[in-house]
Amino acid sequence: MADLRIKIGPMEFRNPVILASGTCGYGAELEDFMDLSELGGIIVKGTTLEPREGNPYPRMAETASGMLNAVGLQNKGIDYFEKNIYPVLAKYDTHVIVNVNGNTIEEYVELSRRLDLLTAIPAIELNISCPNVKKGGMIFGTNPASAREVIAAVRKVYHKTLIVKLSPNVTDITEFARISEGEGAEAVSLVNTLLGMAIDASTMKPKLSTVTGGLSGPAIKPVALRMVWQVARAVRIPVIGLGGIMNAEDAIEFILAGATAVQVGTVSFINPRSGTEIVNGIEKYLVEKEFDSVSRITGIINRN
Ligand SMILES: Cc1cc2nc3c(=O)[nH]c(=O)nc-3n(C[C@H](O)[C@H](O)[C@H](O)COP(=O)(O)O)c2cc1C
Repeated sequence: MADLRIKIGPMEFRNPVILASGTCGYGAELEDFMDLSELGGIIVKGTTLEPREGNPYPRMAETASGMLNAVGLQNKGIDYFEKNIYPVLAKYDTHVIVNVNGNTIEEYVELSRRLDLLTAIPAIELNISCPNVKKGGMIFGTNPASAREVIAAVRKVYHKTLIVKLSPNVTDITEFARISEGEGAEAVSLVNTLLGMAIDASTMKPKLSTVTGGLSGPAIKPVALRMVWQVARAVRIPVIGLGGIMNAEDAIEFILAGATAVQVGTVSFINPRSGTEIVNGIEKYLVEKEFDSVSRITGIINRN
């Protein structure tokens, strides 16, 4: 047995494996396949103040070793969430984190303020990196001044654990990680999807209604791993790594690069049991390598 527990701010997680936002719905979708209490946590789908329909179809396209999506934060808004979804989530025996989105700083702030009051939600993930919306999202996460402004404003009203989700669509992601740390975030998560596109040569049309979308899956893993490594060396707060993790070995690579925890995204569409399989795989690896805890291997490639 190895100790898989990790800490992010004041929160203790039973292991470092968390389901990524937008790929696990509200958890219920995966309950037939796994016991959610065996996970470190789940990050439920992107939530906004008002209901959103998302982008027109088609909004998914397959690519070589990855997928493009342009869902555009479809959700029913915070009122519906509070009334119908929160009571179900509050019963889960794992950390449930909400992914927070908005068109404006005021919307991010108001949503965060509402979530601060929900006692069974111990943390939010501030999504300043969604590439699939016309306003907000990545626009905040690719401009240092805007990123600073939105994080500072949310920090004032949100008193629990604040995780900032960073965009890979920037020249220097460490700048945004440092801003997050400076404005009081407890952790950063990276990466969100990489901006991409696909064209159907037979119809001579883009495959997505929005033309561009977010690339996820194994195609982005080397880029994500590089960014996690860079950020882990640039900040002191914990880094949550994700992007193309398909199995335990991938997850371990992120931990070796400096990630305190990992998120599991696109792979859940292929294998809905992958979250718990990755937990077991990390433990097996630690036992085989004779490490008594996961923290002993975190960022080991950066140590002498
Ligand atoms: C269909 C789909 C929906 C997503 N929705 C969200 C979302 O609402 N909020 C968010 O922060 N990230 C969202 N993401 C991004 C993932 O959480 C993750 O950052 C990204 O897919 C990279 O990880 P992966 O390669 O393991 O999937 C979405 C990804 C996909 C594929």
